[in-house]
Parts: sequence; C-alpha cells; structure tokens
Amino acid sequence: SQLFGAARKNSQGINMNIQNQWNELSAAYQPHLARQWQAAPVIDGKKLSGEAHEVRCPFELSKQVGTAQFASAEQARQAIDALAAAWPRWNATPVDARAAILERIADLLEANRAELMALCTLEAGKSLQDGIDEVREAVDFCRYYAQQARLRLGREELQGPTGERNELFHEGRGIFACVSPWNFPLAIYLGQISAALVAGNCVLAKPAEQTSLIAARALELMFEAGLPQDVIAFLPGDGATLGGVFCRDARIAGVCFTGSTDTARIINRQLAEKEGPIAALIAETGGQNAMIVDSTALPEQVIKDAVASAFTSAGQRCSALRVLYVQADIAERVIDLLKGAMAELKVGPTHLRESDVGPVIDDEARQGLLAHVAQLKAEGKLIAEAKLPEGLDGHFVAPVAFEIAGIHELKKENFGPILHLVRYQAADLEKVVAAINATGYGLTLGVHSRNEETAKRIEELARVGNLYVNRNQIGAVVGVQPFGGCGLSGTGPKAGGPSYLLRFANERTTSVNT
Ligand code: NAD
Ligand code: ALA
Repeated sequence: SQLFGAARKNSQGINMNIQNQWNELSAAYQPHLARQWQAAPVIDGKKLSGEAHEVRCPFELSKQVGTAQFASAEQARQAIDALAAAWPRWNATPVDARAAILERIADLLEANRAELMALCTLEAGKSLQDGIDEVREAVDFCRYYAQQARLRLGREELQGPTGERNELFHEGRGIFACVSPWNFPLAIYLGQISAALVAGNCVLAKPAEQTSLIAARALELMFEAGLPQDVIAFLPGDGATLGGVFCRDARIAGVCFTGSTDTARIINRQLAEKEGPIAALIAETGGQNAMIVDSTALPEQVIKDAVASAFTSAGQRCSALRVLYVQADIAERVIDLLKGAMAELKVGPTHLRESDVGPVIDDEARQGLLAHVAQLKAEGKLIAEAKLPEGLDGHFVAPVAFEIAGIHELKKENFGPILHLVRYQAADLEKVVAAINATGYGLTLGVHSRNEETAKRIEELARVGNLYVNRNQIGAVVGVQPFGGCGLSGTGPKAGGPSYLLRFANERTTSVNT
C-alpha cells in the first residue's frame, strides 16, 4: 500500500498564528475593551425599543459589555410587513449591484476589525486568534458570495433541439429568516445574511440571544456599505418567541438556520404546517465528531491536531472533536502525550494573549458540561484535566479527557472542552466507522494514518460532510473547504461552497418561439 509522506505541516496548534498579526492589531484593539455597545430591533432602518437585557462578559461576569433590547412577537409581524413591501424592488435590483454591496461590507469589516474582535472576545468569550479568524471568515463569506452570485445567478441561454430561445435565470424566493448561533456570531450571522441578500431575498435577521451586540454592530456596517434599509429587519431576542411568529407566517419563503438539531426540528415542523408557499429550510446543526488514529500515525502530530480540534474555542465548535479513536497498539503513547499537552493548556480570560482556552458561553452551558464531567469522573474514566487558575470570574470549564468504551456511550453533543478517547483493535476499524455512522450525525471526521488505503476506505464508509486527513478538523476555509454535514448534522448545501446560493433562489426558465 502507498504511504502518505510526512503528515501535513499546516495544521495549526492553538494560538499558533497569533504572534505576527497581534503585533499589528494590539494597539487598535485595546481601547475597545472599555467600551459599551447597544443592540435594539431595527425595522425599515428605524431603531425600536424592546425588553432590555444586560450583556455580561463570559470571562469577567462583573463587567457589563452593553445592553440588548429584545424584539417582541408584534415587532416580528411588523418586520415581515416591511420586508414584504421591499422585496419586489430588491429582487429586481441587478445581481451585480447586490454583489457590490457585499464587497463594500467586506471592506468595512476589515476596516473595523479591531472593534469586531473586541466584541468577539467580550461578548462571546472568543480567544484573540478566534476573533481574528472570525472576522476573516465573515469577510471571506461576503467576497465569496459576491463572486458566486456574479458567476451563477445571471441569465444563461440553453442551446438545444427545440429551435426556440431558452433561458435559465434565478430570482430571490422572497423573505428569508436567517437564524444564527452565538458560537460564530459574526461569520455565520453574516454568511447567512449575505447569501440570502445577494440571491435577491429580503432578510429577517435573528441573531442568537447571547450575541446581539456584535450582530447590531455588523448591521450598522451593512447600512454604511449602502444596503437599502428596508431589505433587512434586525430582531434580536428570544428564539422560541420570535421563531414561533416567523416560522408560522405564510409570507416566509425560507429559513436559513444554524444551531442545534433540536431547534432545527422545531423550525422544520412549524414551516411544514404554515400556510403559503412551501418554505425552504437550510439547516446546519450539531455533530458527534470523531477522529480515527491508526498505528501508522505520527503520535506527536495526532496530539497537536486532537488538542486543537477538541479545545480551540473551548470546544464550542460544531466541527470540534469529541471522540478520539486510537488503535490499541499506540494508545498508551498517545495518552501520555495527551496528558502532557493538556498540562500545558492555559485557561483564562480571552482578551489576554496567553490564554489558549476561554470560558463557555453561559452558566446553563457550564452546568450541563459539569454534570457530564462529574458523571464520567464518578465512573472512574478520567485521563487528564487541565488546570483551572484560582480566582477566575467567568463560565470556565477546565479542558478534560476521559476514556470510554465507544461513541455509543454519548447520548448527546457535549458542546464544550470535553474529549473522549476510545481504544480499538486494528481488525475492528470498519466497526469503528459503523459506530460513528450509527450516531446519526455526520459533520466532521478526522483521520490520522500514513496508510493511504486506510484513509480511502474510511472515506468510502463514513457518512460525514467534512473529512480531514492528517490535520485538525476545525476551521474550514470558505471557497476551498465548503462546510456542512448530513443526517442529524444538517440539510446542506454547504456554506462557503458553490451550491449554497442556489438554494436561496428560485430557478426560472423562459422559452420563446422565435
Ligand atoms: P440553538 O439551536 O439553541 O440556537 C440557535 C439559534 O436558534 C439562536 O438564534 C436561537 O435564538 C434560535 N432559536 C432557538 N429556538 C428557536 C425556535 N423555536 N425557532 C426559531 N429560532 C430559534 O443553538 P446554539 O446553542 O445557539 O448553538 C450551538 C449549536 O449550534 C450546536 O449544536 C452546534 O453544533 C450548532 N452549530 C452548527 C454549525 C454548523 O455549521 N453545522 C455551526 C455552528 C453551530
Ligand atoms: N466552519 C467552522 C469550522 O470548520 C464551524 O470549524
């Protein structure tokens, strides 16, 4: 069998990239740490008031970052009225003009990078490296969808035997609700919105409750870039309350949702029962992601990539590694290295450059994770736990690793810095893939092997959206690593890929007998 050469060198360890960029960014970033931001519902460009919620910093709970006013059910109805009135004009706006607005948004995101990074750290608890990556990804989405719109949404003449002039073209579906999660509060929020807008839809933007401030700031930048104020309505607030209105409204043409599998099911049910057009649902949801390591793998590289995949962003990525399957022959060596690497992880406030792992998003998340940790500790399964410094004032969970018997032991996605390790025998490789498939999720899968046939066989057997070989399994790059899963992990199409925009559009043809 063929062997892979030295395993890829460009997979990143936690915080590895930051040095160069930080020198340039630090001075611009620091002043934002003392600021306060505001979010409020916006319909037709007008700021409205709503129920006020204090936003506290997840790594320093005594610090208020701003105030978010939550929209009401009545405001959700008003938003849909306004968007319905604006849609025909926006849909008739040339694709090129819509794409140019996305490019101006991208420019403004770059110009305001330090402030947006500060919001990522202060509101979402993201690390500095995550903040840099988040703004980068948001910029990439805007530029990529602008380019894709020009490429794919124009008019195309179809040649054929009919002797007629046949044309294929696309238009917006109508009003799209874009419902985003807190863990990519800028990139996914803007990725959804920019795709829906450029395809000719008006957008009801519903950011996660926890990250309304950064979403509100991005809205200001969208308007500054020239987006007409009536084509987007901004509704920060409670998902169930607002979703209960817009997912049942006959005028909603589609929902683009990223979040938990349970919420996707609720939205799906409501859309199925509503009056009006059959609505499109694009859902990107959770995962139970594994990495399979055989005995030909390089243990040092495995640990670097496993630690980055499991603990970057405090494990709060849908792509994050949850279950590390290691061939028994090298398991002891891998466990030794894992203990060493975890002892080096620095947990702490994420506006500090030295912190590798920050807080989880809120107390509810922390309590859920700690209950899982307590149960596995009680069962005697602990391998290693990173040190939690004294005196932290936030929702911190120490990165932790356990040894379990198989992925079937995990009954749900544990959305935090918890890694599970399973030993397997070489003869059981196909059973391992079958067990991973049996979870029903299908988002990311890592493979570490220098045997090319092993990686090929796993690719054939595994039902996942994104397979990563000899590298980490997070941080998909827009345009070259289109991202999204199957089964319980989502409906597709992949974000940042060539099919994405088409799902937001109605395809039409006109045939003229010339
Ligand atoms: P969540 O489902 O609780 O919330 C996501 C969004 O849905 C929020 O804006 C929320 O307000 C809204 N919402 C909640 N109930 C709703 C309802 N009944 N109707 C309409 N909207 C409603 O998820 P979360 O905790 O914010 O995010 C974490 C989850 O997201 C994890 O499961 C993670 O795996 C997943 N995720 C998936 C991807 C992906 O690309 N596959 C990316 C990031 C996060
Ligand atoms: N797109 C994000 C990643 O790949 C979720 O980590």
